[in-house]
Amino acid sequence: QEDALYSIIILGASGDLAKKKIYPVLWSLFRDDLLPKNTSFVGYARSKLSIDDLRKSFQANCKIMKGEEEKFFAFIKNNLYISGSYDSSEDFKRLNESLNEREAKTNAGNRVFYLSLPPFVFDTATQHIRENCWGKTGWNRIVLEKPFGHDLESSRKLATHLNSLFTEEEIYRIDHYLGKELVQNLITLRFANRIFNPAWNNHNVASVMITFKEPIGTQGRGGYFDEYGIIRDIIQNHLMQIFCLAAMEKPVSLNAEDIRDEKVRVLRRIAPATIENSVFGQYLGNPTGKTEDEKMGYLDDPTVPKGSVTPTFAALVLKIDNERWEGVPWILRAGKALNERKAEIRVQFKKPDGDIMPGTGAKRDELVIRFQPNEAIYLKMMTKTPNSHFGMEETELDMTYSKRYEGVVLAEAYQLLFLEILRGRQIHFVRNDELEETWRIFTPLLHQIENEKVKPIDYEFGSRGPRDADRLLAENNFIYTGTYKWPGPSK
Ligand code: BG6
Repeated sequence: QEDALYSIIILGASGDLAKKKIYPVLWSLFRDDLLPKNTSFVGYARSKLSIDDLRKSFQANCKIMKGEEEKFFAFIKNNLYISGSYDSSEDFKRLNESLNEREAKTNAGNRVFYLSLPPFVFDTATQHIRENCWGKTGWNRIVLEKPFGHDLESSRKLATHLNSLFTEEEIYRIDHYLGKELVQNLITLRFANRIFNPAWNNHNVASVMITFKEPIGTQGRGGYFDEYGIIRDIIQNHLMQIFCLAAMEKPVSLNAEDIRDEKVRVLRRIAPATIENSVFGQYLGNPTGKTEDEKMGYLDDPTVPKGSVTPTFAALVLKIDNERWEGVPWILRAGKALNERKAEIRVQFKKPDGDIMPGTGAKRDELVIRFQPNEAIYLKMMTKTPNSHFGMEETELDMTYSKRYEGVVLAEAYQLLFLEILRGRQIHFVRNDELEETWRIFTPLLHQIENEKVKPIDYEFGSRGPRDADRLLAENNFIYTGTYKWPGPSK
């Protein structure tokens, strides 16, 4: 709309996420002229800050290039900051007045409320936003990030509260993995090609593994992390979103509700995760590590409570009880302080029936989608060794993005998600019933390991995680032969 005004209100503007991610992303969208032209940015937080203080807090994260200084100045000019508390209606009324003032000259004042807040202020802040700051002339959208509660019950409580204030169309629950290019590509890959779908079932697939690895520890965030652990931090949200997109049936259309309906349908056929089918780990410092971070074990982090049994690594197996997937193990594996940074899905296919190839040389095919880093899709397969009789070897069909899309810079997850919020498209956001189902799957296991204080297995910073995880994979029809190594992103 030509004369519409847009306000992006960042609650928790002085916090870490705002400084590191949100402001730099808003700047990059502004710099590239991707935002509607009448967009302004309104920070709100408790600290008393001038616009200059605010700018200083995030400028270093904005990667401003030579020649962009003027544009950055224009970006800052579009910023406003209001200091206020999260439980004072007076303060929220002041915020509203300043929004109204700006919107006085339009009959469409659209408002995005982005909550970068600790969970204990979610309830009061949302209540005040709804009561005091809901715009009357345009649309209003509210954007939230995890944690959405810490188990099924607390998540339901939050949902009941939010649903009493907002409609589901007004709520954008961020899972930033849904903003990643290759996660989004899962739908295209599966449903815009003839070749994958007929093989995408228990007749052909032996197992599926979704992996998240990080080579960093908690880096001072241990206090936060300890209350959640790796399942709540990565598996219940990021990996389960990938899981849904890989496992769901073809949606009726690309409409957000049709896609999210399919995600919920597949989740509903998954039994809760169990301790028997899980391996937990916690990292120890590596005395020979190169950095201070690597030398520090999880329990050496002063913000982590002594003797904590919170897992920093988990591998677990889920099964989908439906016609397509019955019997196929889906292995989810995530860990901090491991040997590399990597997020991928690996679909391992069964060997062909009635194999006429001599010997036992044929290895399983694998379709790998690497979400990050070095985004790639590759199919590991068998080929005849050149110039041999029927010798064969493992090779790959390789679609490495940096080669196929040379020079194309993939948008950052948050950039894409912000644009979707402004467009009002909810495809890449989590609906309440998806959230509820994922909590149903993990809550019994989480409660059990917490109540019984199940001790995770030690692993060294920079290793592959506990060895027992490999045993779990082997028991669940994931064969690792070690005979093949992807040559890495082709140049
Ligand atoms: C966040 C987790 O959601 O995702 C962090 O809280 C994790 O612990 C991060 O480091 C990983 O995101 P990315 O995009 O770097 O893979």
